[in-house]
Amino acid sequence: MKAAVFKAFGAADQMVIVDLPRPEPQPDEVLVRVRAAAVNPKDTFIRKGYLKAFTGEQFPMQTGFDFAGEIAAVGPETEGASLDTAVYGMLDGWEGQACAEYLAVKPHQLAAMPAGLSFEEAAALPLVCSTALQALRDQAGIKPGHAVCINGAAGGVGTAGVRIVKILGADVTAIASPGNHDFLRGLGADHCVDYQSEDITQSGRRFDIFFDVFGNRPFDSVLPILKPRGVWVSTVLQPHVFKSVEETKNSTGRKAQLVVVAARRNDLDQIRGWVEAGQLEPVIHQVYPLEQIGEAHAQQETKHTRGKLVIRIA
Ligand SMILES: NC(=O)c1ccc[n+]([C@@H]2O[C@H](COP(=O)([O-])OP(=O)(O)OC[C@H]3O[C@@H](n4cnc5c(N)ncnc54)[C@H](OP(=O)(O)O)[C@@H]3O)[C@@H](O)[C@H]2O)c1
Repeated sequence: MKAAVFKAFGAADQMVIVDLPRPEPQPDEVLVRVRAAAVNPKDTFIRKGYLKAFTGEQFPMQTGFDFAGEIAAVGPETEGASLDTAVYGMLDGWEGQACAEYLAVKPHQLAAMPAGLSFEEAAALPLVCSTALQALRDQAGIKPGHAVCINGAAGGVGTAGVRIVKILGADVTAIASPGNHDFLRGLGADHCVDYQSEDITQSGRRFDIFFDVFGNRPFDSVLPILKPRGVWVSTVLQPHVFKSVEETKNSTGRKAQLVVVAARRNDLDQIRGWVEAGQLEPVIHQVYPLEQIGEAHAQQETKHTRGKLVIRIA
């Protein structure tokens, strides 16, 4: 099968397409014929070797965590998966393998694909929507009427976050560059703030939840704009985040949290339900053929992608 790999840690031009053996699903796994995948910042961090403590250094190394496709084989210990069903989902952990023609996954990592979407559209949803949902619902305890601020609102996780805040009945302030403000209002943002010319801490607004998706607004820097029981949630695995989480873990006042996304069938089902109800839609910056995955990684590294970068496999 065709698969995107890199043979050494390095720049985006390390990405190449090779022929690999088709994976054999374990008895508790499902084999997916992948039709589309998506790129996440994690893929580029892994390719650069930043996460080698987790990934190891065995090459060639595959890439990709989001996928959409069809079930091609089912292990005897899996239940409820039938051949040829259209599915979408995401891998956990550090082994990206979705940018390939076939992928073996555990049943909790996939769900029925939302009706009415193409494979490319479906592949744009799982990781970023699961991250935003798990951050807002599980870490921050979002409630209707809450005031939420999302820093990094125009990217993959941010655009999913804006939509999910609105679905859950809260008010959302979106921090992004001015060229993205009309686009974010179109997604439902109630207020937009330009990080280049405005300081959110001087805005006079107060938030129940500050979701630092981009990763450059530490807990201490937003304390003045967090309500007394407000929650700051970060996506980045950095020492200042671990420190703030540890320091506030017993706090009955303002708290710091870290989201570490996990594949969950229930969340994929929830995301599908919102898509089918017309409340949530994929935001796609560009679709690339598998052969151009290096270009997609390079675009992801600009840090100015609007929504998702999708890889068409077949
Ligand atoms: N912990 C987890 O489980 C988890 C899960 C998913 C993602 N993440 C992490 O979350 C981060 C974001 O992921 P993503 O997929 O959303 O990335 P992304 O799509 O690459 O984010 C790009 C967005 O960042 C915005 N941006 C650039 N500079 C900014 C600034 N100075 N202030 C505010 N926004 C800025 C850009 O908006 P403009 O073009 O308007 O500047 C752009 O739309 C990454 O570090 C990723 O690794 C963690």
